[in-house]
Amino acid sequence: MQKSSSPVFENRALAAVWDFADERLGLSDMIAFAKKKQVPQHEHSFWYYWGGISLFFFLVQCFTGVLLLVYYRPGVEAYESVRQITYDIEFGWLVRSAHSWSANLMVVAIFVHMFSVFFMKAYRRPREFGWWSGLGLLGLAMVFGFSGYLLPMDELAYFATKVGLEIPMSIPVVGPFLGDLIRGGPDVGENTVQRFFALHVVILPALFVPLLMFHLWLVQRHGNAVPPGEEIKPAERRRSIPFFPNFLAKDLAMWLIALNVLAVLASLYPWELGPQADPLAPAPLGIHPEWYFMSQFQVLKVFGAWFPGIVGEALGILLFTAGGIVWALIPLYDPDSRNGQRARIATWLGFAALVGLIILTAWGYLAL
Ligand code: HEM
Repeated sequence: MQKSSSPVFENRALAAVWDFADERLGLSDMIAFAKKKQVPQHEHSFWYYWGGISLFFFLVQCFTGVLLLVYYRPGVEAYESVRQITYDIEFGWLVRSAHSWSANLMVVAIFVHMFSVFFMKAYRRPREFGWWSGLGLLGLAMVFGFSGYLLPMDELAYFATKVGLEIPMSIPVVGPFLGDLIRGGPDVGENTVQRFFALHVVILPALFVPLLMFHLWLVQRHGNAVPPGEEIKPAERRRSIPFFPNFLAKDLAMWLIALNVLAVLASLYPWELGPQADPLAPAPLGIHPEWYFMSQFQVLKVFGAWFPGIVGEALGILLFTAGGIVWALIPLYDPDSRNGQRARIATWLGFAALVGLIILTAWGYLAL
């Protein structure tokens, strides 16, 4: 009899099941592909966990989002359905709270991941597409957050969306058209909720999931980048562990910590539901978009005050777009370790971007 190719099972019956599945699905090839990758171990290895943590929060979003879908009703009943989820349905408040907290934690994790891969210079050849697909994921994650924020249609959601829409609306020429298209009319209303709902549960997942698969496939293909300080060490002083199963086990331990942080936040600080949105009521004081749009919002506000009219806002948009393009093109400017001058400039640019974002965000909150 042919010997079983099962890597795990001593038991003959289980090994036979394995062989059956393996022959048809190519499981051994998949395991070999997973085992091929080695994860470098060094003083900065901690930062390798953040992509996985972002992935964990995304999975939580899918799970809690599907549960919310069971009771959420877009359109005129949006607020009432979220009120029921929050106050009438058992554990509805917890699912909603976990979904909202996890959305924010996911954006935090993505930012940490992005800046850590930046400073480890993991955008360099051959990982450029990892960088670009990652930027796509960040953009989509922000649109996920923005579209989800409106869905409860409470006062804060309504006015924050109106304020947030000022960003795309200040794009010269196409801005007003974009505003109408996104809102589905001259003002934020039921049509907007319906559109945001379709975006949030159909269009964005349909774009995000394949892009994520591409991103993860690239990581598996190229392995984790070694930061420049490690790269120059002689081969015998470099250490690494197999991704499967060793690093994966550590990844899962991190997921457990992330789950605990989420559980504490979601249960001790339940996500609130404000009064129902009333378009005729004056906007409450201090309305602002979500924290991850605060820096753009603040730039628009400052430029708008310096150069009144559309000129200021257009300049603000231009500044942010130019910054985004430079950020996206960094793998082409600093493609490998051969040009020390460019490497240093890129690192300084990263610090400037990080400090700039923090200052603008804090300034935005202080100026409310
Ligand atoms: C939901 C969003 C994202 C998820 C789930 C995700 C997931 C991952 C995972 C699991 C890894 C491998 C482990 C690691 O190095 O951390 C990784 C690596 C990587 N990610 Fe992401 N990522 C996301 C967003 C981003 C963003 C915004 C960027 C940058 C713009 C980015 C750029 C990269 C790069 C360049 C690597 C390779 C790192 C290396 O070789 O060491 N990712 N990502």
